[in-house]
Amino acid sequence: MQPERVVNPKINTKKQVCPWQHVRTFDNLLRPLIHNPRKLFGPYVGRGMTVLDVGCGRGFASLGLARLVGDNGLVIAADLQPQMLEMVKERAASAGLSDRIRVHRCEATRVGVQEKLDFAVAFWMVHEVPDELAFLSEIFGLLKPGGSFFVAEPKVRTSRPDFEQLVQKSQNVGFVVSDRPRVFLSRAVLLSKKV
Ligand SMILES: C[S@@+](CC[C@H](N)C(=O)[O-])C[C@H]1O[C@@H](n2cnc3c(N)ncnc32)[C@H](O)[C@@H]1O
Repeated sequence: MQPERVVNPKINTKKQVCPWQHVRTFDNLLRPLIHNPRKLFGPYVGRGMTVLDVGCGRGFASLGLARLVGDNGLVIAADLQPQMLEMVKERAASAGLSDRIRVHRCEATRVGVQEKLDFAVAFWMVHEVPDELAFLSEIFGLLKPGGSFFVAEPKVRTSRPDFEQLVQKSQNVGFVVSDRPRVFLSRAVLLSKKV
């Protein structure tokens, strides 16, 4: 018999995951014009790094990160939905980046990657995560000391007070705020795990 799942009363079970059929409405040919991965992540990501793009969708960030880490680096494109991961695989193959992008299927309550990370990105996804504190704590644990975590949330989904609560939760799990990048249509923060 399966053990009964213990539900944390602080988990918001009403959060909805973006259906994979909708992803092309915002990750399309125009996306790099408003969210240029080199400009967004270039200041923090270098060659040879191991990077996680969690909630990657169809992978605009994963592809850009793969160019930044170079051929000795690794990007783990992680998502709940297998359809998203298939799209990332196809895009990686057409861009000639399959050698450095690995896809990974997450569970709703666990990212579950094994590698230690230099950098992680959660772009427009944290508002879909049922237990933010557990999520932030898992990412904190996955980062190497000195590593950082780039979080961007869509303004239409996350009010300023909600975003500041998220920043507070991040600090509660051990992150330090090291930058407040400007990201179009978004609220963003760069969180660091101090050495
Ligand atoms: C709004 S989309 C954003 C996709 C991509 N980051 C972008 O900016 O184009 C949110 C993505 O997060 C994924 N997601 C939601 N909850 C998740 C979770 N708990 N773990 C991993 N991925 C999740 C969804 O499947 C979806 O692909």
